[in-house]
Amino acid sequence: MNSTTPEHHAHRSGTPSISADGICLSFPDSTEVLRNISIEIGDHEFVSVVGPSGCGKSTLLRVLSGLQKPTSGQLNTPSNDVGFVFQDPTLLPWRTALRNVETLLELRGVNATDRRELAFNALSSVGLADSANKYPRQLSGGMKMRVSLARSLVTQPKLFLFDEPFAAVDEFAREQLNDDLLALFASAKFSAVFVTHSISEAVYLSQRVIIMSARPASIAHIIEIPFDYPRSPEIRYQPDFAKCCGTIARHLRQLQNI
Ligand SMILES: Nc1ncnc2c1ncn2[C@@H]1O[C@H](COP(=O)(O)OP(=O)(O)OP(=O)(O)O)[C@@H](O)[C@H]1O
Ligand SMILES: [Mg+2]
Repeated sequence: MNSTTPEHHAHRSGTPSISADGICLSFPDSTEVLRNISIEIGDHEFVSVVGPSGCGKSTLLRVLSGLQKPTSGQLNTPSNDVGFVFQDPTLLPWRTALRNVETLLELRGVNATDRRELAFNALSSVGLADSANKYPRQLSGGMKMRVSLARSLVTQPKLFLFDEPFAAVDEFAREQLNDDLLALFASAKFSAVFVTHSISEAVYLSQRVIIMSARPASIAHIIEIPFDYPRSPEIRYQPDFAKCCGTIARHLRQLQNI
C-alpha cells in the first residue's frame, strides 16, 4: 500500500478514460468548492472518492459528468458515454422495472424489440430477471438500486459515476451489491468513480482511493489498494484490508481535526 502526495497524482498506463487538470469551481454566490483538482482515471480503472461531508464530492462528479462547467481547468471525458447512479434510484413509479430500464434507450430512439432485449439482459446481469414486470413499489431498496444500475448499464457507458449509491441499504445488502458491482465491472469494463462515506466499501471496490480535503476540496491523499480482482468477500477480514481502512480513517480524522 502506498500513500502518494497529490503532486504525484498517480495514473495508470494507457489512455486515460478521464483526465482533469487544475479543475477549480466557485459558485456564483462565491462559494469556492473545488480547488485545483487534477486526476487521471485509466480505462477500466475503479477509483473511489471519500472526504468530509459537504466538501464537494457530488460537485466533482457533476463536473466529471459534464453537467457542471468548472470555473477553470481542463477536462477530458467520454461525454456521451457517462452513466450516473445516485443514492436515490429515481425510478418512474408507473413503469415496471423493465420499462424503467428501457427509458434511456427509448430516448435514444432504439426500437421496441431491441430495447426490450437490452433492458432484459441488463436486468438479468443485476440478478433481477424474475422481477422485470414488477413495479418499483413492489421492490426492496436494494432491488430498486439494482434497477437503477441496470438502467445506466443498458447504455454501455465507458465511464460510470456513482454518488453514494448504496448508502440507504443495510450493510448485508450493501456487501452483496458491492460484489454484484464488481462482477459488472469485470464484465462490462467501464471506468468507475465511486463516491462513498464508507471507508471499507471504498477499499473493497477500488484500485485507488482519493481522499479529499474539507471545502474547498482538493486532493489530500491518494491510497493505492493492493488487492487484485476478482476480490472475495474474505479480503475484508485480512490484515492488509484493515491497514488500508486505518490509513484512510486516520487521514480523514486529521482533515476534520478530530
Ligand atoms: N448551486 C450551488 N450554489 C452554491 N453552493 C453550492 C451549490 N451546490 C453545492 N453548493 C455547496 O458546495 C459544497 C459542496 O457540496 P457537495 O454536494 O458537492 O458536497 P459533498 O461532498 O457531496 O457532500 P455530502 O458528503 O454531504 O454528500 C457545499 O458547501 C454546498 O453547500
Ligand atoms: Mg454528496
